[in-house]
Amino acid sequence: MKHHNIAVIPADGIGQEVAPEGVKALNTAGELTGEYKLKYEHFPYGCNYYLKHGKMMADDGLKLLRQFDAIYFGAVGSPAVPDHISLRGLRLPICQGFEQYVCYRPTELLPGVKTPLANKKPGDIDFIVIRENTEGEYTGAGGRAHRGLPIEIAVETSVFSRVGVERVARYAYRLAQGRRKKLVSATKSNAQQHSFTFWDEVVAEVGREFTDVTVERVLIDALAARFISHPESLDVVVASNLLGDILTDIAAAISGSLGIAPSGNINPERDYPSMFEPVHGSAPDIAGKGIANPIAMIWCGAMMLDFLGHKKTAKLIDAAIKAVTAEGRVLTPDLGGTAKTGDVTKAIIGKMRAMAK
Ligand code: IPM
Ligand code: MG
Repeated sequence: MKHHNIAVIPADGIGQEVAPEGVKALNTAGELTGEYKLKYEHFPYGCNYYLKHGKMMADDGLKLLRQFDAIYFGAVGSPAVPDHISLRGLRLPICQGFEQYVCYRPTELLPGVKTPLANKKPGDIDFIVIRENTEGEYTGAGGRAHRGLPIEIAVETSVFSRVGVERVARYAYRLAQGRRKKLVSATKSNAQQHSFTFWDEVVAEVGREFTDVTVERVLIDALAARFISHPESLDVVVASNLLGDILTDIAAAISGSLGIAPSGNINPERDYPSMFEPVHGSAPDIAGKGIANPIAMIWCGAMMLDFLGHKKTAKLIDAAIKAVTAEGRVLTPDLGGTAKTGDVTKAIIGKMRAMAK
């Protein structure tokens, strides 16, 4: 049996509600398969920490987190703290500081879940967006000047490096190689004449290492439309930080709910811990009501286990989630049900127990 040390950062809003549910599911799954034992340490970082200490995490936060095998992250953001502060004080320093340059976001229409798209069934929506996660439009290079004057300006520069584009492209090609061998590269090189022409070039160059994968370059506006009109034509999509951000909200929406979409911020070389977090964010509008969907957080747990080498348990969790959605009896309001957060976790755990027998 393998032991892993997991840092848990529930952070804000519904992150506080779903993180403990994820931990319950991870523990039960581990007991059932006997593949691993997890030891958790909880970190109080987030917006409440900021309101008390004037910073989103401790000064030596990254040094502490570095010791762990993985980070299990809830959600960050609160109406009490400007979003750019909470994001740039916690999540981005972790993603950038730990070279988590792959943001791995699978989208799957789960059985029993209703998509807003007409005539699409499970199988039609089943793809993965690989979002560049350390640079591009999120680099943070820029500034403001002449504040308050009519001549006030703001500059935010996208930064694309050869290393940055190559490594994420290579990861995406490799992933595509193990699937349907079809890669779509999101671009906007018709209007962004420097950065995205460079992106296109580097993606094409890396493609020469993967002659069995066909790569299709698609402009982001057309690609956004295609996510809605022909999601079945997608398998692996590689995108810059901002384009990937936008695409993955569309992806979550067509898969029925933001409440089920998982995400992995991955350092493929394993020089640093990777971080697993739901796409949904802190959702202040429903926080504290006990109705947040725990499926994204639990699915993230399965992704974390898969990354740590426990494929069997990851598959068990995956199958249990699908069994619960297929049955459609215990679902939170975002999926049209009336169940509470904890009820869904219990239902998933029940299915795991039944399946493990
Ligand atoms: C996401 C989110 C974040 C992002 C926000 C909260 C800054 O939208 O994880 O997709 O843009 O990266
Ligand atoms: Mg987003």
